[in-house]
Amino acid sequence: MTSTMHDPRTYASSVGLDPARLPRHIAIIMDGNGRWAERQGKPRMEGHARGAHSVDVITEECCRLGLGQLTLYCLSSENWKRPKPEIDFLMALLKEYLLAERQKILDQNIRFTVIGRRAGLPAEVLAEIDENVRLTQHNTGLTLCLAINYGSRAEIVDAVQAIAARVNRGELEPDAIDEATISGALYTGGMPDPDLLVRTAGEMRVSNYLLWQISYAELWVTPKFWPEFDAALLHDALRDYARRERRFGGLNAGPAT
Ligand code: IPE
Ligand code: IPE
Ligand code: MG
Repeated sequence: MTSTMHDPRTYASSVGLDPARLPRHIAIIMDGNGRWAERQGKPRMEGHARGAHSVDVITEECCRLGLGQLTLYCLSSENWKRPKPEIDFLMALLKEYLLAERQKILDQNIRFTVIGRRAGLPAEVLAEIDENVRLTQHNTGLTLCLAINYGSRAEIVDAVQAIAARVNRGELEPDAIDEATISGALYTGGMPDPDLLVRTAGEMRVSNYLLWQISYAELWVTPKFWPEFDAALLHDALRDYARRERRFGGLNAGPAT
């Protein structure tokens, strides 16, 4: 159980990171699996398989560092546009990952959770998701949140419908709707907003990811593809984050906390 071998603060210092300046919540757009494979003359699917290994490595590293939450963009609501064989492969890979990582997730005291629409996902994938959520619900370590069939606009539509239904039932006055009402109605209700948004493979866009929640997240983009993302690159992102001055619209808020 590597994650508990070290005190997280001692470990962070040992790799040159200031434990007081780590983000509480990192969100990652794991992009570039296909390009990584294509560059090596391999089928795109090999990129996805190798990307699953990076998920394992980065999750473990976040545990070692004692971070609060890691939210990973696994499948967007727009990714269904891809050829059926790729979608089928991604579903099979997801199921395999959920099963294969179960014991490791438990051993690392990870609380597993998901965001996204359930409709459209195969029943056998949903069953494995539900089992991981159930088994880890009382864990107190890293919250590992997988965004699966996730789209931020779809999330906002679902939240608005839920809020409108409460108004309709007479439980909520329209005037009483505030930012907390909306935050609470999103799939991420109750979770802290991401402090740091990482995107691999160089694209300078957010691709419908956590649009509400990343309002004041620090952005960090690397040209490296997701299958080559490792602990050292994560440390680079964290070191950069620690140097940022987060102002939240104010003045002299001081370094990132
Ligand atoms: C990210 O890699 C994984 C998913 C979106 C499922 P891509 O499959 O988007 O890889 P590129 O962007 O085509 O290289
Ligand atoms: C974003 O990557 C979605 C995931 C990483 C799951 P995409 O590859 O789908 O994003 P675009 O199409 O380049 O914007
Ligand atoms: Mg992509």
